Amino acid sequence: MKKGKVDALLGIVFGDEGKGKVVDCFTPRYDVVARFAGGPNAGHTIIFEGKKFVLRSIPSGIFDEGKINIIGNGCVIAPDLFMQEAKELEAAGYDLKSRLHISKRAHLILPTHRVLDRAYEAAKGKNKVGTTGKGIGPTYSEKASRTGLRVGDILGDFPQKYAALKARHLQILQDLHYTDFDITDEEKVWMEGIEYMRQFPLTDTEIELGKALAEGKSVLAEGAQGTMLDIDHGTYPFVSSSNTVSGGVCTGLGVAPNSIGEVFGIFKAYSTRVGSGPFPVELFDETGDKIREIGHEYGAVTGRNRRCGWLDLVALKYAIMINGVTQLIMMKSDVLDTFDTIRVCVAYQKDGVTTTDMPYDTEGWQAVYEDLPGWKTDLTQMTSESQFPQQLKDYITYIEKATATPITIVSVGPDRAQTIERK
Ligand code: IMP
Repeated sequence: MKKGKVDALLGIVFGDEGKGKVVDCFTPRYDVVARFAGGPNAGHTIIFEGKKFVLRSIPSGIFDEGKINIIGNGCVIAPDLFMQEAKELEAAGYDLKSRLHISKRAHLILPTHRVLDRAYEAAKGKNKVGTTGKGIGPTYSEKASRTGLRVGDILGDFPQKYAALKARHLQILQDLHYTDFDITDEEKVWMEGIEYMRQFPLTDTEIELGKALAEGKSVLAEGAQGTMLDIDHGTYPFVSSSNTVSGGVCTGLGVAPNSIGEVFGIFKAYSTRVGSGPFPVELFDETGDKIREIGHEYGAVTGRNRRCGWLDLVALKYAIMINGVTQLIMMKSDVLDTFDTIRVCVAYQKDGVTTTDMPYDTEGWQAVYEDLPGWKTDLTQMTSESQFPQQLKDYITYIEKATATPITIVSVGPDRAQTIERK
C-alpha cells in the first residue's frame, strides 16, 4: 500500500471468491474504501467475532469506524435494498451516515428495472443468463442509452423524472406482453429508500477521491463479481453488465490509470460459477458435490447452488493479464483438506485443438488436467505459513510458477483470523 495510490482488490474468476473478508482485513491499512462497479447483485460475506454480515452495495470497509466508504459512479444502487442493508448495519451499532458517501453519478435501479430483468430473461428461453434478478442489466443498458436516473436526480425534480421513466418501462413491458407483476408494495418501500438515501452525503465522489489522493491518502477499490463476468472480457453474453476488471476502477471511480498501485487478484483454491454459461472445469460428479458441500457454495444473493470444479489456470492466467495483477490471494484452501488428489486445469481442448489462451468462445471446450497430491491435513487452525503441509506449499509454488505471480495471502477459513500472510 502506497500513500496517494488506489489499490484494487478484485475477484478474478467468476466472483464469490471471498473479497469481503479480505477487504475487511485490509481496511485498517487504507483511508478510504470504494466500490466501483456492480450493485446488489454482489453479496460480500464478512464474519468476525462470531457475527456474520452480507454486504451488497455497501463497501466492506464500513466496519472500521475511522474509514470513509464510497459507492462510486460506476455502481448501480437500489434504494430499497440499500436501506435494508444500511439499517441492519445501523441496528448492529455501526455509524454509516457520516462515513458512507454515495456518488451522485451512480445510477438508480428502479423496481421496474427488476421486472424488466425478469422479462428479458423469460424472453431468452434456453439462453437465459441466469441473472440475480436485481435489475442490473436493464439499469446499465439505460445508462448506456442515456435514459437512466442517477442518484443526483433525487436532489431535483425527482417525482416527475421517476414517473416518466417508469411509464417508459411499463410501455416496454406491455410490448413484451409481460404484464403479470405488481410493484405497488415494492415501489412504496423503494420511495422510502429514496428518502432514507437523502440522509447520506450524496457527493461528487470522483472529486473527493482526487483530493484525497492529492493529500497522500490511500484508497482501496473493492471489486464485485469477477473478471470472467466482465461485460467486455468475460464469457459474453453470460456475464454481468459492468467492467469488473482493474480498468473499471478508473472509470467507475474517476481515478487516473497512473494512480493505481497494487492489483490484488483473489481466487479460490478451486472454481465456482453461478448462473449459466460456459464453465469447462465444471464437475458433475460427487467430487463437485463434495466441494459444494464443504465450501458451502450456495449463492449469497440468490441461494442457488454454485457450479463447482477444480482450479482453472487458463482463466487465472488470462485474468492476471487483463487486470495487471501484482499479487494473488488464494481463498478457501481448507475446502480441499480432505481430497487425495487435487486437479488443476492447465489447458482447454476442443475438436483436436489444445489451447492455453482464453478462447473467444468458451463453449464446448474440455479441461485438460494435471494432478497434484492432496495435503489431507486440517488447515483451519493454522496461523502461519511454517505450519503448512508440504503438499500445500507445492500447490502454491505450482500456481506461482504457472502464473508468474506471487501468492501473498492464503486463507484457511471464513474468519478474519484465518488469513495467513506469506513473507
Ligand atoms: P446480473 O449481474 O444479475 O445481471 O447477473 C449476470 C451473471 O452474473 C449471472 O450469471 C449471475 O449469476 C452472475 N453474478 C452477478 N453477480 C455475481 C456475484 O456477485 N457473484 C457471482 N456471480 C454473480
